[in-house]
Amino acid sequence: MDNLFKNIISHCKTYGFIFPSSEIYDGLSATYDYGPNGVELKNNIKQAWWKSMVRQHENIVGLDAAIFMHPKTWKASGHVDAFNDPLIDNKTSKKRYRADVLVEDYMAKLEAKIQKEVDKAKKRFGDDFDEVMYSKTNPRVLANAEKHEAARTRLAKAMTDGDLEDMKKMIEDYEIACPESGSRDWTEVRQFNLMFSTQLGAVAGEEGKLYLRPETAQGIFVNFLNVQKSSRQKVPFGIAQIGKAFRNEIIARQFIFRMREFEQMEMQFFVQPGSEMEWYEYWKAERLKWHEMLGGSSEDLRYHDHDNLAHYANAAVDIEFKFPFGFKELEGIHSRTDFDLTQHQALSGKKMQYFDPVLNESYVPYVVETSIGVDRMFLATLSRAYTEESVPDGKGGSSERVVLKLHPSLAPVKCAILPLVKNNADLTEKARAVFDDLKMDYAAQYDEKDAIGRRYRRQDAIGTPYCITVDHDSLEDNAVTVRERDSLTQERVSLDGLKAYLAQRL
Ligand code: GAP
Repeated sequence: MDNLFKNIISHCKTYGFIFPSSEIYDGLSATYDYGPNGVELKNNIKQAWWKSMVRQHENIVGLDAAIFMHPKTWKASGHVDAFNDPLIDNKTSKKRYRADVLVEDYMAKLEAKIQKEVDKAKKRFGDDFDEVMYSKTNPRVLANAEKHEAARTRLAKAMTDGDLEDMKKMIEDYEIACPESGSRDWTEVRQFNLMFSTQLGAVAGEEGKLYLRPETAQGIFVNFLNVQKSSRQKVPFGIAQIGKAFRNEIIARQFIFRMREFEQMEMQFFVQPGSEMEWYEYWKAERLKWHEMLGGSSEDLRYHDHDNLAHYANAAVDIEFKFPFGFKELEGIHSRTDFDLTQHQALSGKKMQYFDPVLNESYVPYVVETSIGVDRMFLATLSRAYTEESVPDGKGGSSERVVLKLHPSLAPVKCAILPLVKNNADLTEKARAVFDDLKMDYAAQYDEKDAIGRRYRRQDAIGTPYCITVDHDSLEDNAVTVRERDSLTQERVSLDGLKAYLAQRL
């Protein structure tokens, strides 16, 4: 798995998806730039989300709020006081860690031990193996499962109570050592606020202190009435937004999984108080469907209920994706109650109530939120699509290829137009004409360099669903050969019907 992840990262750089930020200065930790193919894929992800949220729901409208907000926003939202991670330093290596992540890593090791036992038994017993019965009865599996459950509940309680002492005690009790130095010489656990701050104009000190938003959601909350009134929406309705968010993550690792500057796609759905659990279940199911529509399955997606709820939520679930380093949070669905609107009402002194014409009364709506990181979705998409495989080489043997089996709607390039050879003006002219005809409708690429096989491989590597080859016969029959990326099937398609052919498939 480690190798697979390394290969994906290296593929991203080679094929212009992602580069380390300011690489010539040795990069800036946990910050990345999206290259020519990366920006296309990222835009396609955002478009797929926007379409499914805003275009397909008459009662969801969009917003693009500023990153900077009045500093009181973050006091009201609880981020100034409660948006903290528990951090701990190892005195020997001087490395800093998130205390909860150290415990989670310990739990992951227990899970791996359980899995190892199960795999061993599966091998030994073959087809007769009953995994459920084995997990319920094998003493080693049971002992590790018990340890895992004890750590899980203890961590959840410590996180909910903000009990830093017990978190330190957990690290001692579970004999967790620094991954770098192997030492168990730890400092106390301290709270660390994740918001980046900066200064407004020339205003000095606390007065001019501004924060870079750690979530896009607050821009939606403070605009709730502006949007509702101007778009004449009635509860239940939603506001969707895509934008940058910033968090001073203590440990930012695993490539674009945890970054300090990232992008979120968030939707706040305003509902009548008391109906929030119904909507929570609705959005939980809807969001999973979206992931499935883009190629997800029960193999790589699962729900995970939160053990410790954020300060604003009364229910929360993650949609987890099986990244190359294990199942991790991809998207969160949170029932945020009326916490945010009530807090903004209290601190701003402005009413945040909605007059419900059906009930003939005013109330502060409850909110169900769906929140997903664009970058995390990007990594999930690439991890799912990245495939190393052997394919027939057309000469009776086989050859290796790396192909991105991307959903066509997400592919950075939809079709590549390739003249069979470069040094034939008739072919290149015809191929260019095909390209010119398609380029306004589809992200298309014209490529005449290298042998056709190499050009196919280049397109496979960036996930282009269709390669369109203009050959000598094309000059006679006005048709082209269309090669499909995953099945490698080739079809002869008349140029008159090419657009319709692509439209149907893309
Ligand atoms: N408004 C709610 C909220 O921000 P969250 O669970 O903290 O909730 C939502 O974040 C989503 O944003 C996550 O599921 C993840 O996809 C993404 N995300 C959060 N922190 C991130 C980071 N440091 N780097 C990349 N994506 C991140």
